[in-house]
Amino acid sequence: MTIIINMRSGVDEVKLRIAAKLIREGKLVAFPTETVYGLGADALNERAVRRIFEAKGRPADNPLILHIAKFSQVYELAREVPEEAKVLVERFWPGPLTIVLPRKDVVPDVTTGGLDTVAIRMPANEIALKLIELSGKPIAAPSANISGKPSPTSAEHVADDFYGKIECIIDGGETRIGVESTVIDLTEHPPVLLRPGGLPLEEIEKVIGKVRIHPAVFGKKVDTPKSPGMKYKHYAPNAEVIVVEGPREKVKGKITELVKELKERGKKVGVIGSESYNADEFFFLGSSVEEVAKNLFKALRYMDKAGVDVVIAEGVEERGLGLAVMNRLRKASGYKIVKA
Ligand code: TXA
Ligand code: MG
Repeated sequence: MTIIINMRSGVDEVKLRIAAKLIREGKLVAFPTETVYGLGADALNERAVRRIFEAKGRPADNPLILHIAKFSQVYELAREVPEEAKVLVERFWPGPLTIVLPRKDVVPDVTTGGLDTVAIRMPANEIALKLIELSGKPIAAPSANISGKPSPTSAEHVADDFYGKIECIIDGGETRIGVESTVIDLTEHPPVLLRPGGLPLEEIEKVIGKVRIHPAVFGKKVDTPKSPGMKYKHYAPNAEVIVVEGPREKVKGKITELVKELKERGKKVGVIGSESYNADEFFFLGSSVEEVAKNLFKALRYMDKAGVDVVIAEGVEERGLGLAVMNRLRKASGYKIVKA
């Protein structure tokens, strides 16, 4: 049975105590963060963490992020906390930034996928922070979607994937940012960006200087990836996805052409973007890159519900949140990219 706790109008400590107790008992609780919804369990309880992997159908070598509510918890989980980590989290926590550090042995192998490092973040969401605090545990939480599907930005998305399969879903309304946290490996010098996300790389570089971007961020094939999540297909709806990249003024024409071609071949076509298009389905993502990020996963899920065969997505500039948006779109497309 899945309990759905409505917390759209703000933090309710009485209700959160119920959810926190479930966490302590080794149960699964989905909760909102500022990025996407997480599927949470006690990070130090092996059996509970195993259930996350089972519920999601997630490969065992893809490690989880540990969510904390107080900075001091970092010292319980990480062996070393370099100066760069302190400076970064001082500036950006709570927020959409995940740091990778050498792990302590209290963190079970299942949680880190057998790696010697641990990924930690403090989310900027009052419900999430209170849940972590009341549970008294670090909460391991991947995005609350079936492995490979678009991440959930509302409790409805979580219910679509997990209703009846997990103990609790806390409904905190739509998430504010809409793409997952930025993951940075601080065990390397210079630090390495493993996943672009809700905190723009430019912001990080202002604080700690040059960061190396892992080639997998741009889709290069990697054999022994630093962050195993990189090698799996991700964010993909059932429909085929094509990303059209290029100068803005050319992209619209190219997409219009593609829609026509695909329709002639009998395909049901959806378009997502910031211009308007004439297709079987159209989802307006918004006019700023922040809005595009916020609506991206919702749009991909919408297209599946609408039953389109092909989704054509407008590319955006790889600046600010645009780097995360393009990373998700290219992955969703399996790198089917058309240049305009
Ligand atoms: O915004 C987010 O980060 C959301 C919310 C719920 O906090 N969580 C999330 O988790 O996106 P997930 O599991 O979907 O993605 C975690 C990413 C994966 O790409 C994983 O490979 C990487 O973080 N990761 C986790 N632990 C790692 C580690 N020790 N070293 C390198 N990468 C790690
Ligand atoms: Mg995920």
